[in-house]
Amino acid sequence: MELLHDIRTLYHLAFTRQRGDTHQERLEHFYKGQAAGYDSFRKRLLHGRAPLIAEIEKLARPGSVWIDMGAGTGFNLELGEHLRRSCSSIYLVDLADSLLKVAEQRARSRGWTNVHFAKADAASFNPEGPRADLITFSYSLTMIPGWKAVLQHAYELLSPGGLIGVTDFYVSKAGPPPGFVRHSWAARKGWPAWFAMDGVYFNEEHLPYLLEHFEPLVLSEKRGRVPYLLGLSAPYFVFVGRKAA
Ligand SMILES: C[S@@+](CC[C@H](N)C(=O)[O-])C[C@H]1O[C@@H](n2cnc3c(N)ncnc32)[C@H](O)[C@@H]1O
Repeated sequence: MELLHDIRTLYHLAFTRQRGDTHQERLEHFYKGQAAGYDSFRKRLLHGRAPLIAEIEKLARPGSVWIDMGAGTGFNLELGEHLRRSCSSIYLVDLADSLLKVAEQRARSRGWTNVHFAKADAASFNPEGPRADLITFSYSLTMIPGWKAVLQHAYELLSPGGLIGVTDFYVSKAGPPPGFVRHSWAARKGWPAWFAMDGVYFNEEHLPYLLEHFEPLVLSEKRGRVPYLLGLSAPYFVFVGRKAA
C-alpha cells in the first residue's frame, strides 16, 4: 500500500506542476492527487517536524492558543499528543482543501475537540478571540509567497512572550556568520533548483530574519534523507523563538 502511494506521490512530484490562476488553485492542483499518500511519504522527507514539536512541548504553556500555518494534513498534532491536549484551541490554517479534509478526518476519528480548521491564507488569517501563544510553520514558509509579510503577520498575532516554531528546508549563505553551518556551492545551487520544480522556494534569509526578530530558544541545522534520491540528504533547520514580552 505504501509503495502504491509512493508511486502516485512520486508521479505528482515529478510531473504535476502547480497550475491555476491563484495561489490557492495552484496548491490544490498540486496536492489533490497526493492527499491520500501525503503522510506516509512526508514522514520520510520532512525530518524537522518531530524535533520541532518535541522542543515546543517542553516550552509551551498549558492552555495555549496554537496556530499551525500551512498545516496540511494536521500531522503535527500526531507528533505531540501532550501539546495537543494541553492547548485550549488549535487552528489548522491551509489553502489546500484536499489536505485540510485529511486533517478534518483525522480530528474526527481521534475525537479531538479543541481543533479548528481554516481554509485561509496564512498572510491574513485572524482567529477570533485571544491572541496566539504559539505559531508554527512546518515546511510551509518555503511555499508561502511573501514570507516576510507572513512572518510579520505572525508576529502581530502572537501575544507578548509567545512562541514561534519554524522548520524548513534551507541553504546557508555563501559566507554564513561564525558558528553556523556552511553549505557547499553544489548544495546551495542544487537543492533550491530541485525543490523549486514543486513550488518550494528556499530562501537563505529565512533563518537570519527569524534570529533578528525573535529571541532564539532552539536552533539546529541538520540534513535529512530524501526518499528515492540515492541517499542524498537535504538541509533543514529547526528554530523556536520567543516574541519579546
Ligand atoms: C510542504 S506542505 C507542509 C504541510 C505541513 N505543515 C506538514 O508539515 O506536513 C506546505 C503547506 O503550506 C500550505 N500553504 C502554502 N501557501 C499557503 C498560504 N499562503 N496560506 C496557507 N497555507 C499555505 C500548502 O497548501 C501546504 O499544505
